[in-house]
Amino acid sequence: MKPLVFVDRRLPLEVLQYIEEHCTVKTWGKDEERNPEQLRHYLQDVVGFFNSSSVPIDSKLLDCAPNLKVVSTMSVGYNHFDLDAMKRRNIIGTHTPYVLDDTVADLVIGLMLSTARRIAELDTYIKAGNWKGNEGKKLFGVDVHHQKLGIIGMGRIGEVIAKRAALGFDMDVMYYNRSRKPEVEAQYGVTYVSMQHLLEQADFVVLMLPLTAESRNIIGQEQFASMKKNAIFINTSRGGTVVEQHLIEALQQGIIGGAGLDVFEQEPLPSDHPFLTLSNVVLTPHIGSATEATRYNMAKIAAQNLVHALQGNDKAYVVKELL
Ligand code: DGY
Repeated sequence: MKPLVFVDRRLPLEVLQYIEEHCTVKTWGKDEERNPEQLRHYLQDVVGFFNSSSVPIDSKLLDCAPNLKVVSTMSVGYNHFDLDAMKRRNIIGTHTPYVLDDTVADLVIGLMLSTARRIAELDTYIKAGNWKGNEGKKLFGVDVHHQKLGIIGMGRIGEVIAKRAALGFDMDVMYYNRSRKPEVEAQYGVTYVSMQHLLEQADFVVLMLPLTAESRNIIGQEQFASMKKNAIFINTSRGGTVVEQHLIEALQQGIIGGAGLDVFEQEPLPSDHPFLTLSNVVLTPHIGSATEATRYNMAKIAAQNLVHALQGNDKAYVVKELL
């Protein structure tokens, strides 16, 4: 008998068909969002759950899914996994690293350029009919090329950002990470520095850490105060890594120059959020990995992860804490 699974996302047909070859599949399949009550109902008899990072896998949810054995998330981040609760139940949790590294790195570079050269702001300016031809310095931004870039977190995505910045934009790249990466230093000429040095010296500060107990609120008032007055702060990791209120104050009070943000404490961002009123911020709606090709590949990998974990083989994409 095939294992019963719940797929909580709309998937490309061939990916869904692949899961159906190996599992009996329940899907929500409607356009409107399902509510938590409906989710609990779907989970009551399944052994596999294909999901995304928006659903916390905590003991409350696990209590509603007594047969659950495998959770496959279609994301690299797995801060929504309550690892202790999953360990207690021997649940296997898988994710989708590697496949999105280049796509997320592209967005980081895009946010750096857009914030520094005010692309989004000036697009709005022209479309509002304000381009009269005598703007003078009004449209000036700051350079990206040959500036100092500081990357906090030198994981796989950090490496790809370093490569683009050093080789493509001739940036002087420094990084802070728990462990040094001599091979990255040698390959792209990047420098390992302390977090404090990075904050004080970088023109662009890119935060690229997974959200864990250690990285929660790692950037706040003190860190913004250490940055240069014209520094541009970029975050595409998770909103919880930053004290958002301190970032808002830093932007409002000119403590830093600007920010490019793809992730937020609350998503979707509430319509009255202060970020929406700030011209020195470029916002995107958590789309780090959101290209057709990358999302397709992530769906395929997450589907394989689900099937392989249910079959008891191939642990390649099991999150390291649950191995
Ligand atoms: C990820 O894969 O973690 C991206 O942030 C999308 O959730």
